Amino acid sequence: MRIVVIYASAQGCPGKSVALIRRLLGDNCETFNLDSGADIDLNGYETVIIGGPIRFGRMPASVQRFCQNHLAALLQRRVGLFICSMQGGGAALQELQQAFPSELLAHARATGIFGGEIHLERISFIERFIVRAVVRTEYSVTTFSEERVSRFLRQLLAG
Ligand SMILES: Cc1cc2nc3c(=O)[nH]c(=O)nc-3n(C[C@H](O)[C@H](O)[C@H](O)COP(=O)(O)O)c2cc1C
Repeated sequence: MRIVVIYASAQGCPGKSVALIRRLLGDNCETFNLDSGADIDLNGYETVIIGGPIRFGRMPASVQRFCQNHLAALLQRRVGLFICSMQGGGAALQELQQAFPSELLAHARATGIFGGEIHLERISFIERFIVRAVVRTEYSVTTFSEERVSRFLRQLLAG
């Protein structure tokens, strides 16, 4: 069974998530970074995992575009969807729902909210201002959870 992880942002939490998924799935798993600007042919992949970071409440446009452009093909495959974000509870669920088309969410075998990371020293002054307002932190923090990634994969590949 060939699996591909399609994502945006190789930095921070999305990068960590993709690396962990690759490590857990081994040789069956390929990766494709939408930041390259290239497109990917989904033929030959039975399982597709799609994810990225939430910034300003949104998934990167490249991921949104990919989901729209390939919706019909994705609905024929086993799909897992994930976000990396700092919000928890209902706010994170709402971010997940806004990140992907509703048809794709309804079809997905697994969805994951993996947590996120804030490294204040790596972001601009303006971003820091926004992070304080949205995420309400004055410090560098991580809520990234390897256990949530493992659970997501178990759910995706069960049965
Ligand atoms: C400028 C900026 C805006 C962000 N906006 C949100 C947000 O709207 N909601 C949220 O849950 N997390 C938000 N975050 C936290 C990110 O989702 C978190 O940093 C996550 O790890 C993914 O981004 P990364 O690639 O920086 O790791 C934001 C982070 C930054 C730096």
